[in-house]
Order: sequence, then C-alpha cells, then structure tokens
Amino acid sequence: MTTVHTIAAVRDALREPRRQGRVIGLVPTMGALHDGHLALVRQARAECDEVVVSLFVNPTQFNDASDLDRYPRTEERDAQLASEAGANLLFAPPAHEIYPPGFSTSVQIAGPLTESLEGANRGPAHFHGVTTVVTKLFNIVQPDVAYFGRKDAQQGLVIRKLVRDLDLPVRIVLCPTVREPDGLAMSSRNVHLSDGDRRRALGLRRALDAAEATVAGGARSADAISRAARAALAECSIEPEYLAIVDPQTLASVAAVDRDVLVAVAADVGGTRLIDNTLIAANNGRTG
Ligand code: PAF
Repeated sequence: MTTVHTIAAVRDALREPRRQGRVIGLVPTMGALHDGHLALVRQARAECDEVVVSLFVNPTQFNDASDLDRYPRTEERDAQLASEAGANLLFAPPAHEIYPPGFSTSVQIAGPLTESLEGANRGPAHFHGVTTVVTKLFNIVQPDVAYFGRKDAQQGLVIRKLVRDLDLPVRIVLCPTVREPDGLAMSSRNVHLSDGDRRRALGLRRALDAAEATVAGGARSADAISRAARAALAECSIEPEYLAIVDPQTLASVAAVDRDVLVAVAADVGGTRLIDNTLIAANNGRTG
C-alpha cells in the first residue's frame, strides 16, 4: 500500500488504473480505524480492483472544538491496518490540502434530512461539512463505488441524496454496523470512555434491544417503543440527546410501526458523544 498526502499524488496514482478500466473503491474515514472501518475496506477489497482509503479529520463537520481537538489521530497504525485489510492507496492529506487559504465553497443539502436528529443537535454546519468534504473526496479520487457504515444512518441518507442531486457518478454502499462482543457499536470515540462509562454506554444498545423487543411483543405505537427504550437508557443513567422513531428514508417521525422504522439514539456518555440505531421491520423482525 502506498500512502500519499497530496491531491496531485492521488491523481497520479490512479491515472493508470483508471485508464485500464479498473474499478476504484473509496472508503472515506477520519482515521482511528477500528473493525467497523476495516469491514468497509474488506468489502471494498472484495468488490473493487483498487481500494483507496482516505484519512482526514474534517474540521468543518465538528460543531465542538474540543471534540475535534481530542479526536484520536493514529496515522501510522491506521496505515498498517488499512494495508492489512487490503487497501492499495491511503490518502492522508493535511488540512490545507483540502481547505487551502481562501477556500470558501460549501456543498449544502437543505431540508429535514440534514436538519433533523444529528443536524438538529450538532447544528446544520455538521452535514454541510460532511457533504462538502465528501464531494471533494469524490472529485479527487473519482471512485466508482464508495463505502460508508450504517451506524451513521443519517449520514448515509444524506450522502445518497448528495449523489442523486448532483448526479455524481459513484455508487454508494452502506455496510452493517460492526459491534463489540457485548453489543456496543464500534466508534473511534469509544477510546475516550472510562471503564464505568464504557459499561454505561451499553445502554444505547440496550435501548435499541428494548425497542425491538417491544415491537416483537406486539406493540405498535411509537410512544410505547420510546418508553421502553428510554427506560433502558435510564437504567444506565443515560439521558439521550434524542431517541427518535422515524421513517428510515425521510427521517420524519412516525406514530406507529405500520411500516419499517428506524430507531435512532444519540447520547453524551461521560463527555463522549455516541450514536446508534436499528431498523425495525413492520412485520416484527429486526432488519439491520
Ligand atoms: O463518517 C465519517 O467518518 C466522516 O463523516 C466522513 C464520511 C469520512 C467525512 O468526513
């Protein structure tokens, strides 16, 4: 695997593979790679000829400066892991390569998809930062396929809309959330959890389990599901930023599980912001 730090070097490295018609897969990341990222890289390896991993802690999507400052940065280890998982090229640009002096363009999707849930809690600039950097990464790498995790369910919807609205020639693949053996969704931020908070953090998964169990038990009202999920959070002393039961495509609130629903939760656990979600099928089954 080759590591490059400039846009020109990415373009050089991909010129010949592209000329040969090789399929290029991109896994955009902010580094601090864990098994969730590596599952994306492995899937890209299985489906593409060239696998590019980008590693860029994107400042424009952080609403909280201290979250940005303490975001883990482990480039050497990331390079090793990405290579072992099958990446050919690691693109790890410095901030000024992506946002040179004078940079003033922003790619923004308006409306409920970016303004609800994460957008409402982190502020609208969060998704503007994501869509701006992802558009740039797509322009730089020009992948045929790009891979994202379903843990960031709303981000997946936003990126699919970005690609649709701007006719970007890239197929978006959303991959299942990878979990620790006890159910905690893998996240680069988990390293910040103290032992006690690590135990409390399981409350998110338990809330989703409670939501699923409530539907499996025959309840259909969003209120009943929400009560059960909130009770599971409360048992772990977690007050959610949001616990939402929404349409999985539009993110509009639903009153009842008369169709597939997404149950999404975000919470600050001891100063570390965590998110998780589950898709519940109207016919009782959990779909992802
Ligand atoms: O999901 C992430 O890690 C980031 O939001 C992404 C897609 C790499 C953009 O910075």
